[in-house]
Amino acid sequence: MSLNKDLINKLVKVTSRAAINCYQYLGKEDKKLADKAATDSMRNDLNNLEINGEVVIGEGELDEAPMLYIGEKLGKGNGPNLDIAVDPLEGTNFAAKNIPGAISVLAISEKGNLFNAPETYMNKIAVGSDVPFDATDLDYPLKKNIYNIAEAKNKNINELTVCILDRPRHKEIIEELKLLNVKLKLISDGDICGALLVTDSKFNVDLFLGIGGGPEGVISASALDAYGCKFQGRFIFNTDKDKERAKKMGIKDLMKKYELNEIVKGDSIFCATGITSTEIVAAIKKENSKFVTETLVTHKKTTIEIIKSEEAIA
Ligand code: FBP
Repeated sequence: MSLNKDLINKLVKVTSRAAINCYQYLGKEDKKLADKAATDSMRNDLNNLEINGEVVIGEGELDEAPMLYIGEKLGKGNGPNLDIAVDPLEGTNFAAKNIPGAISVLAISEKGNLFNAPETYMNKIAVGSDVPFDATDLDYPLKKNIYNIAEAKNKNINELTVCILDRPRHKEIIEELKLLNVKLKLISDGDICGALLVTDSKFNVDLFLGIGGGPEGVISASALDAYGCKFQGRFIFNTDKDKERAKKMGIKDLMKKYELNEIVKGDSIFCATGITSTEIVAAIKKENSKFVTETLVTHKKTTIEIIKSEEAIA
């Protein structure tokens, strides 16, 4: 089995070190610099692993991203064949402004098991494992999803909270949710963390939905799978270029609604290290001569845990 504890420990180090390398650029109002620091670190560390990896979700296509581009081979080439999805700095605005929400994330599966997502938006829905599978659907009217969740959780509608990116494109949904008297949790960025809020009742989020990045959708799905949550996504191809690219990637039905198990097949490992603080994992702490980080690790078969790591300050 190539996805094992040894690999988990190595991957925790990868996101943890990417987060630490980003730390010096927090609050510099330069998201590119912060992203580059995390990206360089993650690429370097993945290249030092005894794996035969390929980036299926990365910083972009080769013509727009020289590092961690889609299709880039990673690792020493002498280990298991793996698909790798990376987001070295998720929440570039958060890091640039030094405010809560920035994480360093990756997901890994055996070759062929992670969806090769195009760089487009995705319409997403996620609910916790305490809601029956058929109670919600990306294609149900919003009201039906809300009523079904309330019934499944035995809650009043006004006790439900919906997390959604605060964007003009969601104006209608937000207005409808307000009319329904549902509580909103409007996030300014970072919809991987947003989606993860449905995993545990302590976060008080009953439904995550809306349009965000497709790559972020696939990475979230890896973690949501381990928690037994429901996730569905539909890519949005607005331009002819997007449609052409999708066809080249082998996507025949551009309107297809993907179920979680079509996005993440089989086993996967997900790691997310806090850079600034989040509801899921704490921020990096600098203590005397070391950095202390927190990483959420999920591996469907073996674990869901938060791992604390220490790294000496160079
Ligand atoms: P970056 O870290 O690349 O800045 O992405 C942040 C993010 O908020 C994602 O979490 C989300 O999926 C996407 O941007 C939403 O895109 P947009 O800002 O175009 O609505």
